[in-house]
Amino acid sequence: MKYSEYSVVVIGSGAAGLYASLKIAQQIKLPEGILLISKSSLGMSNSRYAQGGIVGVVHQNPEDNVESHIEDTLKAGAGLSDKKVTEEISSASDAVLNDLIKNGVEFDRDESGNLTFTLEAAHSIKRILHSGGDATGKGITEALVKAVKSDNNIHTLDNSIAVELLVTAEKECRGVIIYNEQTDEHEIVYSSAIIIATGGAGQVYKYTTNPNSATGDGIALGYEAGAIIEDMEFIQFHPTALAISPESQNRFLISEAVRGEGAKLINKDGKEFMSKYSDMLELAPRDVVTRAIFSEMTKNHTNNVYLNATLIGEEKILKRFPTITKNCRDNGIDITKEPIPVAPAAHYTMGGIKAGVNGVTSIKGLYAIGEAACTGLHGANRLASNSLLECVVCAYLLADYLSFTDLDTPKVIDEGIKKMIDVYSRSISGEEYDTDSLKNQLKNIMWENVGITRTEDSLKKADKEINLLKKDFKRRRKCLNKNEYEYRNMLTVSSLIIKCALGRKESRGAHYRSDYRETLTEALHSNINKLSKEGLSYVK
Ligand code: FAD
Ligand code: SIN
Repeated sequence: MKYSEYSVVVIGSGAAGLYASLKIAQQIKLPEGILLISKSSLGMSNSRYAQGGIVGVVHQNPEDNVESHIEDTLKAGAGLSDKKVTEEISSASDAVLNDLIKNGVEFDRDESGNLTFTLEAAHSIKRILHSGGDATGKGITEALVKAVKSDNNIHTLDNSIAVELLVTAEKECRGVIIYNEQTDEHEIVYSSAIIIATGGAGQVYKYTTNPNSATGDGIALGYEAGAIIEDMEFIQFHPTALAISPESQNRFLISEAVRGEGAKLINKDGKEFMSKYSDMLELAPRDVVTRAIFSEMTKNHTNNVYLNATLIGEEKILKRFPTITKNCRDNGIDITKEPIPVAPAAHYTMGGIKAGVNGVTSIKGLYAIGEAACTGLHGANRLASNSLLECVVCAYLLADYLSFTDLDTPKVIDEGIKKMIDVYSRSISGEEYDTDSLKNQLKNIMWENVGITRTEDSLKKADKEINLLKKDFKRRRKCLNKNEYEYRNMLTVSSLIIKCALGRKESRGAHYRSDYRETLTEALHSNINKLSKEGLSYVK
């Protein structure tokens, strides 16, 4: 098999992977450079589609402060957000956001050139920076892609999917196997620093705001390699995704910022309903608004409710939400004149590979940042626009950490790794699986049984059905193509979500069990590790 060696390998080119590559290249002299691998084209990612913005507790906004951001984050996190982690991330935001600006990211400004801040649900103050009105992710990723491309120390490899981590029996990561779609070959990349920045797993659900690439690959790879995985039962369902018809599965997001600017939710009779569910109305935490909408839909036997954005006024809508206006218009809806049909959709994976704010995981040489990681910032329910902030702050802190770490590429490859490589150098036989149909079966099971509300029965049913899908899919390791790898990983991640959800016999944040509606007094994280005897446990 073809092989190469790099000082650092970054897997994934969303906000986390792009910015980590850039900061590492800017801060550290690397003898063998950085390899940035993406299974899509460079920069195509969830990050690219981010709309509302990024939290910026920055000196340019003197009314804001770290204490207030911490308070809002902890409140939304329903007892599971880690205060120290929140403090570290919030405190670093001024330096990091201003560094992003220095690296070419342009946030929206008023006529005098001052940064403009907007409000989103559960924030007590306007602190969200945005770009291009409602195209913040595009603004950030395009600027970072440009900066990455002009840095000679960063080598990029597109359309190549990471498929297995090379971890020794002593739990040290020495490299990764990738499948290059263009050459149809498997390759080995050796490195003593492998960074997982592969994003979340929204695609395991029938309805999602996430693009097709969000199949939870990094979390599955980390789990299989023995890394500790945390809080997988906490999947955030965004309240307002465009719901033109039950057939449209990948749902276009209608940003929370639209509610932040004054839009109201109404039912099929045109009546506002949020006052029945929360004093914070449309700006209650996401899990609360999602369950309110779900309850209205169930009661009224409808596939959606509506978001009345006409209250914002045409001029402001066109200025603040050009992307949403255009996308709705392409779907026959003029949001300046008529309400938008919306319904909840899977949006964000709060859990992931357990990692520190500097990306350090339970495996030496393996780092995780961005949505694939679980630092403890989001707890049981992420506060709006904290995700992009976490991506860039953790990327920045990881670069700093690596600048004090020995990054010699590993010279000695042990027997275990030789055996792993052997699996991928042998050819496999058999027809290609119909992965479109298999993925759809899995997505239906997850949506129906492991969605906005869950019960012991629904979770056990899902577990049984996912196990049957696993039995029918004969590939455990080497697969024939990218789609098979994604499906393999989706099966793994679905099982992790189900296991953690079954174990959590309470309702907390985004995890709502209609058979255990109460929240327990003690807040514990779910912790799942393939290598431990217990498998799943609950820890402080
Ligand atoms: P991603 O941006 O998802 O990038 C993952 C990368 O990894 C991609 O390049 C992908 O191709 C690659 N990859 C995946 N698996 C593999 C593999 N096996 N091998 C190689 N490459 C791989 N958050 C906010 O804070 N503010 C917002 O306004 C906001 N709006 C959002 C709007 C939408 C529609 C969506 C879907 C999410 C939004 N979020 C928002 C959430 C936020 O965008 C994501 O959590 C964040 O961008 C994740 O960034 P990331 O770099 O961790 O992963
Ligand atoms: C949105 O714009 O509503 C998404 C913001 C986020 O996911 O943080």
